[in-house]
Amino acid sequence: MEETVGGETRIQDRGVAETVDPAALKGKRPRHEKRIRGGVSAELRHDSAEKHVTGAARYTDDEPELPGTLQVYLAMSTKAHARLVDLDLDKVRDAPGVVAVLAAADIPGKNDYSPVFGDDPIFADGVVQYVGQPLFVVAAETLDAAREAAKLVRVEYADLPAAITIEEAIAHADEAGRDLMDPYEMRLGDADGALAGAPHRIAGQIEIGGQDHFYLEGQIAVAIPGEDGDMLVRSSTQHPSEVQHNVAKALGLADNQVTVEMRRMGGGFGGKESQPALFASVCALVAQATGRPAKCRLDRDDDMEMTGKRHEALVDYAFGTDAEGRILGADIRHFIRCGYSCDLSGAIADRAMFHADNAYDLRAARIRSRRLKTHTVSNTAFRGFGGPQGMLGTERAMDRIAFELGLDPLDVRKRNFYPAEGGGVTPYGMEVTDSVIAEIVEELEESSDYRRRREAVREFNAGNPILKKGLALTPVKFGISFTTTHLNQAGALVHVYKDGSVMLNHGGTEMGQGLFTKVAQVVAEEFRIDVDNVKITATTTGKVPNTSATAASSGSDLNGMAALLAARAIKERLVAYASERYGVPAAEIEFLPNRVRIGRVEKRFEDLVGEAYLARVPLSSTGFYATPDITYDRPSASGRPFYYFAYGAACSEVVIDTLTGENRVLRVDILHDVGRSLNPAIDRGQIEGGFVQGMGWLTTEELWWDRAGRLRTHAPSTYKIPTANDRPDDFRLALWAKGENRSETVYRSKAVGEPPFMLAISVFSALTDAVCAAGDGKRFPDLDAPATPERVLAAVEHVRGEA
Ligand code: MTE
Ligand code: MOS
Repeated sequence: MEETVGGETRIQDRGVAETVDPAALKGKRPRHEKRIRGGVSAELRHDSAEKHVTGAARYTDDEPELPGTLQVYLAMSTKAHARLVDLDLDKVRDAPGVVAVLAAADIPGKNDYSPVFGDDPIFADGVVQYVGQPLFVVAAETLDAAREAAKLVRVEYADLPAAITIEEAIAHADEAGRDLMDPYEMRLGDADGALAGAPHRIAGQIEIGGQDHFYLEGQIAVAIPGEDGDMLVRSSTQHPSEVQHNVAKALGLADNQVTVEMRRMGGGFGGKESQPALFASVCALVAQATGRPAKCRLDRDDDMEMTGKRHEALVDYAFGTDAEGRILGADIRHFIRCGYSCDLSGAIADRAMFHADNAYDLRAARIRSRRLKTHTVSNTAFRGFGGPQGMLGTERAMDRIAFELGLDPLDVRKRNFYPAEGGGVTPYGMEVTDSVIAEIVEELEESSDYRRRREAVREFNAGNPILKKGLALTPVKFGISFTTTHLNQAGALVHVYKDGSVMLNHGGTEMGQGLFTKVAQVVAEEFRIDVDNVKITATTTGKVPNTSATAASSGSDLNGMAALLAARAIKERLVAYASERYGVPAAEIEFLPNRVRIGRVEKRFEDLVGEAYLARVPLSSTGFYATPDITYDRPSASGRPFYYFAYGAACSEVVIDTLTGENRVLRVDILHDVGRSLNPAIDRGQIEGGFVQGMGWLTTEELWWDRAGRLRTHAPSTYKIPTANDRPDDFRLALWAKGENRSETVYRSKAVGEPPFMLAISVFSALTDAVCAAGDGKRFPDLDAPATPERVLAAVEHVRGEA
């Protein structure tokens, strides 16, 4: 038996076997490793980490350009809202180096790149709706030539009334009798009754600013025309399938004529979910019209003016509580600034509502949301997808409740958590059965030394008239799944080549979050082979069709599971083959590190694979996964939209200068639940990065439009993202040791991409606390987000009764 099984089969280049009988040769003995390198839960570094820092990682712009590639420049509207009376492109066409100029009328298919609603024209047609809206494209031999030529356009506008701010949008809507999209409402119990009967009623309002994605790699696409009108597109996109579909739609082609490829993005953060379709479509239109490859690469200013951002929001809240700050009911209103078109605003505004409870059992609630139209760029997905805005509104209310009742904010928060034993129901009718927030907060309160530091901060503030410190510990509960149920599906394609090496492909995209590394670990674990044997390949619509965007933090949940199922299918075929070939029951065949035990003998993985190939066993498989048990009925605003929740908490300590409003984050302690981590190193990176990005949103990143609707903060000189120096001086981060997903996700892990972003709300709360300390304790600080030095200073003056 042993001899038979130990056979090795050498396979020549063309796949012709030297021998068909494995028994004829003695095989290489497998090494007896105890574990594989880079399996599930290994602290593996990002597969491209070294390439990222040495510059060897290839982004779309790094792919060698084909000869004849045209550079394209998009000319933008200079008006917020106007009729396009005349667009004279003659001089542009005649300019040196110009090969093609295309506008709305030159589009053979549909002039639209929107994800859902059909209201995002590729080129403005008849009317412009924001400053920065693309009017036409110039394709030239060089980008400079294209840009210079574009200046020769003669545009005649007839101004129309424009709404820029939320207040103006509300006024316009009241006049028109409708918003951009229908309002929406969620209800739990009798909120009015609860508020009316509550001993305390605490109400207020917060304005919440937007955020530019500031991905290091800007928007970019390249289109390469093929035969029969086919088009190959390289696009920096989180959503290759949508780019494929939109390009086909614009060109008048079928989806099967367009292939979209994406190896990696230099950051997406939601900004490359719907918008890349614009740039890909523009390139493809040029490529189709000229028969030459075309590249569209935006510079930073154009990118910031042209592309959508996080939604600004206004949150109105009224909470009814008892004397201990226990919530009896809440009435919350969201006003969401969508920009000129729908894009993903409906789902984003919904998610803001889904997270208006954050981790709190509101007991009775009414949450209303209005989706406002402004003549500004169409706002879009951004890490948290509306969740951060919804959560910040309520965390603001928690701070105010504590202030008005004279309680420690942490005590108020703890009194309102969803119970661990279940029974708490969200405003959308979902029972929260997996709440671990109380436990996490308890642990963090201990480990961060919250109570003692609360005292220390008090003492510090008593002794310092100028500098004031603030401390806050806030929770996060974030729902995992796309709330549009059908999007919760994913596919993968796994090949095992006859030398035992594995090629992995799935529908997810890599934007720096480490998805490819994690999914490769899952496949390595399934085959029990070293992760180095699993080749990570570019996402392409030609390999896995009809994918969802890599978004909603669900990348590894969905694609990890799909890849696991693909690998499992191949594994099962290997087992069936070995069982039959060697007469060993399947139950006695076991995959060990880099080898397979068949009864009493062991074979190297690649030897078994080589044999199976000769026996004509198919060594390639697709895998498909659809998240089970989720439903949501939008009309009745009820269901179970989330497969599970991710939890975490952060404690932040800040100091402000009451003379200037300047502030710093001194120390941050984070305890976050990633379930059983697929890769703790990558998960920690996501938590740290998400937190700092959230901190930027709430403290320094300020978008500022002038009265004419022009974005005046469109470069790093005026728009300040956090740098390495803004990282908290003392940053302590831990994954929750007890973390385990109660839902059956891939290896019981939890999604990590977005939830940690909202841990940064603790910084905003700590700033509120510091401003409180500067006042007389009678006025709750009037602080909006972002809490820039200017706003902190104004808030200090307000609590001192000076403003
Ligand atoms: N991390 C990096 N480095 N770069 C990114 O662009 N995007 C975030 C998050 N983490 C992002 C990131 C967003 S918005 C989402 S939805 C998730 O990653 C998407 O990836 P995942 O589903 O694989 O977590
Ligand atoms: Mo993330 S905002 O869901 O791309």
